[in-house]
Amino acid sequence: MLKKDNMDFNQKMFELAKSAMQNAYAPYSNFAVGTAVMGCNGKIYAGCNVENAAYPQGNCAEAAAISAMVLDGVKVIKSVMIIGDGNGLVTPLVTPCGGCRQRIREFANDDITIDICDYDGLRQRFSLGQLLPFSFGPENLNERI
Ligand code: THU
Repeated sequence: MLKKDNMDFNQKMFELAKSAMQNAYAPYSNFAVGTAVMGCNGKIYAGCNVENAAYPQGNCAEAAAISAMVLDGVKVIKSVMIIGDGNGLVTPLVTPCGGCRQRIREFANDDITIDICDYDGLRQRFSLGQLLPFSFGPENLNERI
């Protein structure tokens, strides 16, 4: 894990992730999550979680941000930022769920940074390789080098 100092924290990603979180639809868990993904083109794509009365149909914030990126024709992720609140009761880091680690992996290599934030800013920076070591990705299917 990287420490809080010597960071190139992206304030714009933080603002976009925070405002995405504010639009989250999470009436069942009351756990709002916002994500900002920076594509290889430098553009930032935001997403929020969208829950459903049929619980398994809910979507994670990361999935929404990645969909927006792909919709824009971009297929390489440069960095990710995630912010979650959980009604202020939750102190553990809001790291991406296992499924979302794999979703990120589809468009990113081990070296990209995943910044985990709260309202005040950065809590902890990880690399994708730390969160999803020895991962399976498109290269395994010989679809990309
Ligand atoms: N959630 C996300 O949006 N991203 C994650 O990586 C973790 C979980 C959402 C899903 C659900 O709406 C709520 O947080 C509680 O699990």
